[in-house]
Amino acid sequence: MSAATARESPRRVLVTGASRGIGRAAMRALAQAGYQAVGLARQVPGDAAAGEQFLACDLTDAQATRTLLDALLREGPFYGLVNNAGMAHATSLAETSVQEMDEAMALNVNAALVCMQALMPGMVQARAGRVVNISSRAALGKPLRTTYSASKAALIGMSRTWALELAPHQITVNAIAPGPVDTGLFWAASPPDAAQTRALMDAVPLQRVGAPAEIAHAIAFLLHPLSGYITGQILHIDGGLTISATRL
Ligand SMILES: NC(=O)c1ccc[n+]([C@@H]2O[C@H](COP(=O)([O-])OP(=O)(O)OC[C@H]3O[C@@H](n4cnc5c(N)ncnc54)[C@H](OP(=O)(O)O)[C@@H]3O)[C@@H](O)[C@H]2O)c1
Repeated sequence: MSAATARESPRRVLVTGASRGIGRAAMRALAQAGYQAVGLARQVPGDAAAGEQFLACDLTDAQATRTLLDALLREGPFYGLVNNAGMAHATSLAETSVQEMDEAMALNVNAALVCMQALMPGMVQARAGRVVNISSRAALGKPLRTTYSASKAALIGMSRTWALELAPHQITVNAIAPGPVDTGLFWAASPPDAAQTRALMDAVPLQRVGAPAEIAHAIAFLLHPLSGYITGQILHIDGGLTISATRL
């Protein structure tokens, strides 16, 4: 099913963290599926294709984000929201500061809340909407990821709560929990030569990192109109990492 017909304008989907990595791949996949993909990030890539619109926004600035979203919403409602922007500290429990926890929560959790609250009235009025929150396998626990695992677990809790609150309005909310994916964020926090990274790779049954396009494909699937009976779910996309212990 196309996201638009000749008579309708394309459905709009907001993607946060759209300038690179998984968000950039999601923009491409959604534009190719016929959506108008609107991407936010601090930097604006110079290679926007048809169906892609990029806008500069620091999502940790809640007021600036609300102001930008209000302006976008004056052009009409959004059908979908992909809360993808994220950051990771790689610090031990002993090293982790409260300031780092605040930084992680500001982007990984609060920005998602601000975007959801802004887009929700239009989805409620339309009695249609799709929300996909990008969490992480680290929500299950991961060494050296106190702030990251806490914020990604928070996103899962919020997804399930939003799914319940928004179900009466036919708005679905799901989370994707990727394992290692070939992006700058992953390699910065997991250097290829580090023992922990090598152990992680050995534990992935499919024996490789994921591609951003493979996560984008699942985002597009959950946004599809026919995915309307899926809500409150956590989709692990991790090469089998979450079942890897059962091999032993
Ligand atoms: N890669 C993995 O292995 C992996 C695994 C599990 C979960 N995830 C999750 O997947 C999501 C995407 O990760 P990725 O690997 O694609 O990361 P990435 O390549 O580092 O991309 C992160 C995106 O977030 C944007 N961003 C960062 N800080 C921002 C801010 N303050 N305001 C606005 N945008 C901001 C970045 O753009 P600018 O720098 O231009 O602002 C960029 O577009 C994240 O939520 C991450 O936690 C990734």
